[in-house]
Formats: sequence, C-alpha cells, structure tokens
Amino acid sequence: SKPWEHAKSSGSETDPLAARFVSSIDYDWRLYKQDIRGSIAHATMLEQVGLITAGDLEAIEAGLRAIESEIDERGRGWPGFTYELEDIHMCVEAALIERVGEPGRKLHTGRSRNDQVALDLMLWVRDAIEERVTPLLDALTDGLVALAERDGAIVMPSYTHLQRAQPIVVGGELFAWHEAFVRAGQRVAQVGVDMYHSPLGSGAVAGTSLPLNRDMTAEALDFPLNASSSIDATANRDAAVDFVYALSMTAMTLSRWAEQWIIYASTEFGFIKLDDAYTTGSSMMPQKQNPDMLELIRGKCGAVYGSLVALLTTLKGLPIAYNRDLQEDKKHVFRAFDDVCDCLEMAAKIVAGTTFQKERIASTLDRGYLDATSLADYLVTKGVPFRTAHQVVGRLVQVSEERGLGALGKLSLEQFRAESELVEADVFDWLGAENVVKRYQSDGNAGLSGFVSLLEWVRSEGAAE
Ligand code: ARG
Repeated sequence: SKPWEHAKSSGSETDPLAARFVSSIDYDWRLYKQDIRGSIAHATMLEQVGLITAGDLEAIEAGLRAIESEIDERGRGWPGFTYELEDIHMCVEAALIERVGEPGRKLHTGRSRNDQVALDLMLWVRDAIEERVTPLLDALTDGLVALAERDGAIVMPSYTHLQRAQPIVVGGELFAWHEAFVRAGQRVAQVGVDMYHSPLGSGAVAGTSLPLNRDMTAEALDFPLNASSSIDATANRDAAVDFVYALSMTAMTLSRWAEQWIIYASTEFGFIKLDDAYTTGSSMMPQKQNPDMLELIRGKCGAVYGSLVALLTTLKGLPIAYNRDLQEDKKHVFRAFDDVCDCLEMAAKIVAGTTFQKERIASTLDRGYLDATSLADYLVTKGVPFRTAHQVVGRLVQVSEERGLGALGKLSLEQFRAESELVEADVFDWLGAENVVKRYQSDGNAGLSGFVSLLEWVRSEGAAE
C-alpha cells in the first residue's frame, strides 16, 4: 500500500492534477523543524495525560528526530515529500508511520492540521525573526555606525524637498538611517513578543473531547498563554500579517535609503563612491558604473508590499475558522522574508564598501545659502524677532545675488549693517557650513555635537551589551 493511504478515508484515487493543485509541499516543507518541534511537544503531553504510552512517545520522538536529520540533509529533495501527501504535516506523519509503525498512528490524537499549521507558522515566524531578521538588521545598523566612525565628521548639505537646506555632518544623516533601521528591528522583534497564544489543542475548529493538557504544550513551546477560542485560534493569521507588515516597513526604509544613495552616487552629486563590487557595467556604454544592487533593493520593496496586500486580501473574504485559502499565507510570508533578508544582507555590504567624497562635497558647500537659517539665528541672539530676522536674511540673500557674490559670507560688514545695525564682526562665526555645523546645540541635531553624542551613546550601548 502507498504510504499516504493511512490518511485517506475513501478509497477513490486522487486526480494527479488535483493532488498537485491542492498541495503546498513545494513551499511549506520549510516548516519541517517547527512541525517536528510541535509534534514532539504534543506527543510528550499525550504521554503525560495517559493517551499514549512511554514506549509510544519514545518511538515517536526518535522517529521524528531521525526524519528531521534526513530533511536537514536533503532539504526539498527528501523523498518523503510528495504531492499526494499534500503538505509538510502529512508528509512527516506518513514517514513517521512508515518508520515506527503503530505509535506513529497515535501522534495526531487530539490534533488537527488546522491547529498544527497555525502553530507551525507562528513558531517559524518566531525563529525567522530571532535567527535571521534581527541579526541582519543588527549587522546593518552596526555597519552604519562603522561608516559614521569613518566619514561621520564630513560636512555636507542637508536637503528638504531635495533642495539645499542647512549644513549637517555625514554622521547626522547616517544616524537618521540608523534610527529608522533600529526602529524597524524593534517592530519586527515585537511581532515575536506579541505571539502570546498557543493554538495547540484547538483541534480542527471546536477543540477536543480528549483530556489534553494545553498548558503543558504551551509552556514547552514558549507561549505564555493558550488561545482562548479554538475557532479564532485556527482562523486567524495575525502573526503572519504582523510579520509581513513589519517586513514591509523594513523594505520601505531600505528602499528610501537605496534611493538616497542612488542620488548621491550620481555624477551630478558625486557625494559617495560605491565599491565597484556593488555596481555593474553596461553592455553598451563602457564608462558605466550603475548602482544596480541599490536599485534592486528599491525594486524588491514592491514585491514585499505585494505580499502584504496578497495576504490581507486572502484573509478578507474568509468565513470564520479554517479555510484552505489560508494555505497560501506561507507563500507570501516566505517570499517577503526571503526578499527582505537578501536586501538586508546586500545593504550591509554596500554600506561597508561606501566612502563619502569629502573634497567633492566640500566644493559644493558654498552653494545654496545653507547658512541662511544660521544667520537668522544670529540675529535672534542680538535681539531681533525671528520673523524680522527671516526678512532681513531674505534681503541679504538678494543683495548677495545682485552683487554676484553667491554666499552670505562674502558680504562686507557694512553691507550687513545696512540691513541691520545689530550685526557685528562676530557674524562671520555664524556663516559658512563648517561654522554652522559646530553651532547646533539642540538634542538630536544633525550637526557635530549631535553626531558626537549619538556616537558616544551607541558605543556605550555596545559596551554595555
Ligand atoms: N496545508 C494546510 C495549510 O497550510 C494545512 C491545513 C489543512 N487542513 C485541512 N483541513 N485541509 O493550511
């Protein structure tokens, strides 16, 4: 007899097309470790409450562990994965029965694939966060700090509306990305924390009349609580949606950063130099060094959003409790996870290989009146109301333009005083990007003092770990 026949209630042959269509083994095989962990916790509990014997448990556990190492070795190529058996749960169970016989037939006591798959997916998401997403985000934020340590004191313009705004230091901008990625990491980690409720013991929809000890499996699998509704526990995919949302926010931040650096790497800006390993040539134009890796980080964000929308759309029409549509959830979760991990890994390498072009940036600093706001602040320190100061500086910019000077620092003291008698010789200490970045004093500023205190703070955090 075929290994899967144990699970079929009627004798009719399955249409091979239907078997393949309904199967999820091509992707849900990735749940095997979580599936086996959940099964061992379940069997341990079954033995405790007297539903299986100690000998059954021993056979089940040994069988499952042997299967796990086989799959560790062969991956998707493990011969136990067949379309006829539909999914990871049935494939592992069938292999167990084939291997250990009768005890294997008892594993599914008081359980359904509906609570089983809800559990497996939650465990998988938790592992994915702890083992991959969090370490990758940590590596990226560490890389940004390392770059800030190298190039952070370089003075550069900031932009709002992509128009020159105020002078900052490179470290000020790098810490903006650092902050955003730290927050992305906290958001992802919170998804793991928020998974309080073990679905195991909910059965197919209504629970079970067998005397399971749900507290025991919940504790073994690190859930503080049991799901309080068997229906909701098998019907919801909140953890999957929360995870893909957190991944989408991560992808969005990656995409914005990639766009920023694509602009900075352009000939027009020339603010950064990317490592040649992370640019590609053109098949036609010999001089090209295209930032393709950054462009793909920006591009892949679209697919991650797609996964989120696909997941939400799959869920929106479902009547309560389990429906087979839910099987599609894992495709979107895995796809978003794979893309975001690839992007994070790539991003960290790009950051490590990038240098800010100090001379090139410096040669542009006298353009765009970056110090105009600083001059207005100067006038405020001399007692001029800010709104008046704003107008005075506006006129001074106009004078500079009319005389073809191009920079406030090139005006003479007399020219300043013609607009405001309160201006004195110390005005020149407030002009020029190099001076301005030393003057910011508000907490979190993007100038020198803000950068230095952030760097100290990050170093002390790192030392405390
Ligand atoms: N492969 C299914 C899934 O991923 C498992 C649950 C199937 N349950 C069922 N009663 N057909 O959702």
